[in-house]
Amino acid sequence: MQICRIEKIVSHSKLHKTFFFDLRMNAKPGQFIMLWIPGIDEIPMSLSYIGDKVGITVEKVGEATKALHEMKEGNKVGVRGPYGKGFEIVGKKALFVAGGTGIAPLFPLIKKYKGEKFVVLGAKTKDFLLFKNELEKLSHLYVSTDDGSYGYKGFASNLAKKIIEEEDFDIVYTCGPEPMMKKLLDLCLDKNIPMQASLERYMKCGVGICDSCAIDGYHVCKDGPVFSHEVLKRIKDFGRWKRNEAGKKLRI
Ligand SMILES: Cc1cc2nc3c(=O)[nH]c(=O)nc-3n(C[C@H](O)[C@H](O)[C@H](O)COP(=O)(O)OP(=O)(O)OC[C@H]3O[C@@H](n4cnc5c(N)ncnc54)[C@H](O)[C@@H]3O)c2cc1C
Ligand code: FES
Repeated sequence: MQICRIEKIVSHSKLHKTFFFDLRMNAKPGQFIMLWIPGIDEIPMSLSYIGDKVGITVEKVGEATKALHEMKEGNKVGVRGPYGKGFEIVGKKALFVAGGTGIAPLFPLIKKYKGEKFVVLGAKTKDFLLFKNELEKLSHLYVSTDDGSYGYKGFASNLAKKIIEEEDFDIVYTCGPEPMMKKLLDLCLDKNIPMQASLERYMKCGVGICDSCAIDGYHVCKDGPVFSHEVLKRIKDFGRWKRNEAGKKLRI
């Protein structure tokens, strides 16, 4: 583990902040770190910035993320990684579908992808649309909000379906709530479009030892978090079941 300093904090909304660290890291978009918040917990976080600037974009959901949100520039944290399999660059025309904080691992991929880029950025409400201004410059951007406060009213997967029916894509990349990604998988299988999705499962070790992130014989930390449609169509628990910190199976 490397101990590093929080160099800069950018606040996006009352629930979302990006933390930049004083470290350099060679990682692939979609890879994640295990972040140690001293005295609290160690949690998995996708890299939303890679290279000279290394950063993560964090939604405040529970104890560890709340403690992180309370930290200040100059405070120290521990970082292990990068871990896992990231996204593979495919083709010349891509659709990126992000639900909520799911834009975090897609953001460096969108920057890296050299072909034509269409992005669906979905969030519960307009205040939670992350990186909207940057994405407008990088891509053909479509926005959805569940409450209709900005852009298309409804789920990102429904907006993505409309775009998939109008355009021919070489690949669909997605990260967000699992029901959204499952809908996209079914659509991509139906239309014969390759897809890659970044999954979340409860993680402890992050390196394939503890089994806490197991899903139908795969370890999300090591075999993923990014899986292709070919693997996802064989994972029966995808979009249906996850495990909590005690290993108990819960319906998604
Ligand atoms: C590969 C990966 C990448 C992730 N990237 C991001 C990201 O870029 N930005 C972001 O905001 N969040 C990301 N997450 C989710 C993030 O790890 C959890 O929100 C965080 O661990 C919650 O910790 P907590 O103590 O604040 O919440 P808790 O009070 O512990 O729990 C709140 C919720 O988070 C889930 N959770 C708790 N601990 C973990 C864990 N170790 N692994 C997975 N889920 C957990 C719980 O099941 C619960 O539903 C990622 C998760 C994974 C697996
Ligand atoms: S987190 Fe331990 S095996 Fe994946």
